[in-house]
Amino acid sequence: MRGFWLLVHVLGFTLWLGAGIATMIAGLTAKRFAPAERLAAYRVMSAVFRMVVAPGAVGVLVGGFILSAPYMRSDVPGWLGLMMGAGGLGALIVLFVVVPTAARLGRLELDPRGELPEAFPRLRKTQIVSASLAGLLGIIALIAGTALK
Ligand code: HEM
Repeated sequence: MRGFWLLVHVLGFTLWLGAGIATMIAGLTAKRFAPAERLAAYRVMSAVFRMVVAPGAVGVLVGGFILSAPYMRSDVPGWLGLMMGAGGLGALIVLFVVVPTAARLGRLELDPRGELPEAFPRLRKTQIVSASLAGLLGIIALIAGTALK
């Protein structure tokens, strides 16, 4: 069974970090688009966050907690403690800040003048800061589980 939960765990951070980097590139590319096309790009990114990144973060947490069970009877090694702390916090930021913000960005409509709505810059800033922080914590967890193990 350990192999299965390790697969869920590894597939989880592959989806989260892979799709997260892809949406970062998509968001940067969409900066050049006209307002209507730019909002359409955010609708696509919202679907990716909800259907790929969110299940990935859940897979990381569920797989990680089940794999942690044998370590709870003894001392948790440093690399594992770092993975749990950084990866766990990153996954919670994804689920409670990044994905809801992406969903709100994906529902925005043009204002009556055909421009980006007032809420767009604020939501985009929240998205950039939270997704970058979560991604950085995910990379720290990855380093902990590989180079530091
Ligand atoms: C993005 C976040 C995370 C990344 C990138 C990550 C990465 C990894 C990697 C690469 C391994 C394979 C280590 C090996 O078997 O050689 C692993 C295993 C493991 N991870 Fe994570 N992890 C993350 C989050 C978490 C969280 C949140 C927890 C706990 C709640 C956790 C607990 C574990 C456990 C217990 C193992 C098995 C260790 C072993 O017995 O060898 N991980 N993780």
